[in-house]
Amino acid sequence: MRVLGIETSCDETGVAVYDTEQGLLRHALYSQVDLHAQYGGVVPELASRDHVRKLIPLIKEVLTDPNEIDGVAYTAGPGLIGALLVGASVGRSLAWAWQVPAIGVHHLEGHLLAPMLEEAAPKFPFLALLVSGGHTQLMEVSAWGKYKILGESLDDAAGEAFDKTAKLLGLGYPGGPALAELALRGNPDRFDFPRPMTQRPGLDFSFSGLKTHVLTTWNKQEQNEQTRADIARAFEDAVIDTLLIKCRRAIKQTKLKSLVIAGGVAANKRLRSSFKKKLDINIYYPRPSFCTDNGAMIAHAGALRLLNKQSEPLAFKTHARWSMFK
Ligand code: KG4
Ligand code: ZN
Repeated sequence: MRVLGIETSCDETGVAVYDTEQGLLRHALYSQVDLHAQYGGVVPELASRDHVRKLIPLIKEVLTDPNEIDGVAYTAGPGLIGALLVGASVGRSLAWAWQVPAIGVHHLEGHLLAPMLEEAAPKFPFLALLVSGGHTQLMEVSAWGKYKILGESLDDAAGEAFDKTAKLLGLGYPGGPALAELALRGNPDRFDFPRPMTQRPGLDFSFSGLKTHVLTTWNKQEQNEQTRADIARAFEDAVIDTLLIKCRRAIKQTKLKSLVIAGGVAANKRLRSSFKKKLDINIYYPRPSFCTDNGAMIAHAGALRLLNKQSEPLAFKTHARWSMFK
C-alpha cells in the first residue's frame, strides 16, 4: 500500500511517498523560515499563501506515477487553520480525482510514530515524550492508536520556551536551534536555573516561569556575549533536566522498557547525549530532519491508518486544536 503524505500545519511544506512494504520512497520539504524571519515569528496568512505556491511543485517532485498511489494523507490538525486548509483541500481533491481514500492525520501522531521510519524502529508498547513547538506530552503508547496521556505542559511547550527565550536574548526566529548553538559556548557552572514542577509528584510540566528567570538574570548581569551564552546554557540544562526527571518518573510508574522522543526539540543534540548518559533504557528518535515538521511522518502515519481501514468522507474537517486522546 502506497500513500502520498502532505504536511502544511505551520511553516513547513512537506510531502512524501511511503510504501507499507518498502518504507519511505521519496520526500521533499520546503521551509518558510526566510519568509517569516523578518517578522520574528510565523505570520499565519503568509504561511497559508506560501503553502499554496509550494505544495503542487513539491508533490510533482515526489510523485512518479499517480496510479501507484493507494491513498492520500494530509495533516488535518492541530495547526494554523489557513495553512491546514491548503494541505487538506489539495489532499482531498487529489484523492477524489484519483478515486482513492483520503486520510486526515493528527499532526502529533505523525511526530509520535516518526521514529518508526528509522532502521532501529521502536516496538509497542513504549513510553513517548513528545516535545514540539506547540506541545509537551508524556504518553503511554500500548499499540497503534492506543495513546494514554500521562502528563503535559500546563503552559508553554518545551519548543515554545526555547523560542521565547531565544527572542528575549535577541536571537531571532527560529529560536530553538539558535539557542542550542549558543548554549554550546556557555559555562554550565555560572547559573543554576530551577527545574519547574519536579519537587511535587506528577508528570505535568510548566516552562513559562523559566523565561521570566532568563529575563531577570539577563537584566541583572553585564550584558555581553559570554553572559548570553551562559544563560542559554543554564536554560537548556534546566529544560533537559526537567524532561529527564519526568521521564525517569514515568518509566518507574509504567515499567515500560523503551522510550520514544519525537517533535522538534528531539533534534537537540545535548538532550540526546544527556538522555543517553543518564537513562538506562532503550531510546528511539527520528533522524534530526524528521524531528521537525515533514511530509514523511504524515505519509507514514496515514499509511498505518489506511492499513487499519480508516479514511475520510468527501467533506473534510480541519482542527486548529485537536486532542489525540479522546
Ligand atoms: O515539531 P516542530 O517542527 O513543530 C511543531 O509541531 O510545533 O517543532 C518546532 C520546535 C520549535 O519550537 C523549535 O524551536 C524547536 O522545535 N527546535 C529545537 C531544536 N530544533 C527545533 N529546540 C531545541 N533545540 C533544537 N536543536
Ligand atoms: Zn510539528
